[in-house]
Amino acid sequence: MWHSTPYSQSRFALLFHLFFALYLSLTAALPLSSDTNLTKVPLVYNPKYEKNGTKSYVSLLTKYSFAPTKEGPYFITDQVNEQGKHGVLKKVGGRAQVRRNVLRKRQDNGQAGEVPAEDQQNDSMYLAPVKIGTPGQKFMLDFDTGSADLWVWSTELPSSLQSQSSKHRIFNPDKSSTYKNMDGYTWKIQYGDSSSASGTVGTDNVNLGGLVVKNQGIELASQLSQQFAQGVGDGLLGLAFGSINTVRPHPVKTPVENMIEQKEIPPSAELFTAKLSSYRDNEDSFYTFGYIDQDTVKASGQDVYYTPVDNSQGFWMFGSGSATVNGKTINRSGNTAIADTGTTLALIDDNTCEAIYNAIPGAKYDQTQQGYTFPKSTSADKLPTVSFAVGGKQFYVQKEDLAFADIGNGYVYGGIQSRGSMSFDILGDTFLKSIYAIFDQGNTRFGAVQRVVQGITQIPHNFHQKRAKSYASTGIEPGLRRWQRRISP
Ligand SMILES: *[C@@H]1O[C@H](CO)[C@@H](O)[C@H](O)[C@H]1NC(C)=O
Ligand SMILES: *[C@@H]1O[C@H](CO)[C@@H](O)[C@H](O)[C@H]1NC(C)=O
Ligand SMILES: *[C@@H]1O[C@H](CO)[C@@H](O)[C@H](O)[C@H]1NC(C)=O
Ligand SMILES: *[C@@H]1O[C@H](CO)[C@@H](O)[C@H](O)[C@H]1NC(C)=O
Repeated sequence: MWHSTPYSQSRFALLFHLFFALYLSLTAALPLSSDTNLTKVPLVYNPKYEKNGTKSYVSLLTKYSFAPTKEGPYFITDQVNEQGKHGVLKKVGGRAQVRRNVLRKRQDNGQAGEVPAEDQQNDSMYLAPVKIGTPGQKFMLDFDTGSADLWVWSTELPSSLQSQSSKHRIFNPDKSSTYKNMDGYTWKIQYGDSSSASGTVGTDNVNLGGLVVKNQGIELASQLSQQFAQGVGDGLLGLAFGSINTVRPHPVKTPVENMIEQKEIPPSAELFTAKLSSYRDNEDSFYTFGYIDQDTVKASGQDVYYTPVDNSQGFWMFGSGSATVNGKTINRSGNTAIADTGTTLALIDDNTCEAIYNAIPGAKYDQTQQGYTFPKSTSADKLPTVSFAVGGKQFYVQKEDLAFADIGNGYVYGGIQSRGSMSFDILGDTFLKSIYAIFDQGNTRFGAVQRVVQGITQIPHNFHQKRAKSYASTGIEPGLRRWQRRISP
């Protein structure tokens, strides 16, 4: 069925209709396993997602609040907040108001201005179906190993916001017989650009691909900044460690912590895994809970490589003491990295960025885009082979992912960018798409299996190589582009 040329039209049409159907009606996307405890949650590539490198970078600035070390329109100011001024106050030990780094945009007149909501990526690339409550209400959530809150759009939001966003599913706790309010509990996620999400908290059942977590803390949004209203997702499901959950007065456990406590997943596999693929891979994307997908491991022909995780900051952090560019090792002794499925790019130190982009003919740092860019016409054989260490083993980055998005002037925005003032790397989808990732919570370790060889996808068929090539030269997934043209109003 897949061998014919022209391959694209019918196949993509079929695929996209399938994805769209899946994406609109979630019922089909929730396989309810009855006689098995194995649970797989399919990921849906968000068809509305528009790649924009600068916007993704701005979102990372707001998520991690770091100061850029390279020039660009966006920067961080060290601002002393006055008592009582809108939301950005942070109390230390219940007494002092502290300085807080606030993200600003340089205006044409040189002044520092607010960062407009439309300058940020307001969507996630992948979304996963989840049911909450009894009977289950369905949501498409952003699974994020870089945070630890589970929050959803809710009926507590101002009605103006609820009605404005017909595209969002809204959790109604009154319609769930198992919902219990947690009196006096609140949550708030505060971003570096002063935007925020906050609300009340309750507990309810959460169904992840058939596995039901009971009494899961659910954070109901009652206030959301504008940029949240614009995306397609209905909320976020954090898969980092509960120590960075924002619920007060006490943090609540994450779904995975509850699965372990409630013995919903076996003691021998207190873990979850993430396989993130692109359209071009012709492979599925999913999360599993409580087991490792052996088909994916077998396809790689390798054993899972594990390295210890330091979760003291709440993240999936591990040692990444070296990198290679075209086989040349860069010593990054003492360096650490986190695996963040909620991030599209990979952010690393400036020296390593320089080494990578020096290896791409015509690559340059573009101040107006606030990122490294390279000519769109670069063919795969001109792209360097790049790898990052996970513990003691190198893992390659799929060459195609070195290009993130077309910026429209003959250049693409690179998938690997500067981490600025941050002391650790953030390995997002640019890196994670090249591996099968195992987040072993029970053993506090991170496992990886390489899914590409020397930066080239292990796909035997011509057809895929053709697609990969055309993708590398445009930075835009061909299928998505065609789909957008067809479906967009
Ligand atoms: C599923 O979980 C239950 C309860 O933890 C256990 O008794 C049962 O053996 C498990 N079934 C499988 C197929 O692992
Ligand atoms: C990407 O986003 C930035 C910030 O909003 C915007 O200035 C730029 O024009 C966008 N680029 C493209 C190619 O759409
Ligand atoms: C974000 O929101 C704006 C405004 O609603 C919308 O035009 C845009 O397509 C959304 N997505 C991105 C990636 O900016
Ligand atoms: C890497 O650098 C560290 C610290 O500078 C040094 O101790 C180590 O020997 C170096 N490793 C290699 C393989 O060169």
